[in-house]
Amino acid sequence: MSKLRIVNHPLIKKGEQKRISFTFNGESLEGLEGEPIAAALLAHGIRILRRHEESGSNRGLYCAIGHCMECRVDVQGKGQVRACLTPIVEGMEVVEGKQLENKITGREAP
Ligand code: FES
Repeated sequence: MSKLRIVNHPLIKKGEQKRISFTFNGESLEGLEGEPIAAALLAHGIRILRRHEESGSNRGLYCAIGHCMECRVDVQGKGQVRACLTPIVEGMEVVEGKQLENKITGREAP
């Protein structure tokens, strides 16, 4: 289990959540069943969830309550989802949101 995960807190009941495996950008990681994708990634120190569509700058959690859409990631079989709201499940394949081709300038994403 990740060193960044909080395991000792009065609101956390030990032994209640099952450990599951998932991947992010092809890397195998471990999370707790039902926790949001973003929480599982943060527990591994992963804060960059996608790239800005035009500039390619790093984007991550902002509101963490489903309002801003800054945390969009691609989940195999589901398309783009909000990482702060979507529960992680066993075997889930998550990929960071990519920079898109700029439709105005025609510039391709790196
Ligand atoms: S961080 Fe704002 S919608 Fe997920």
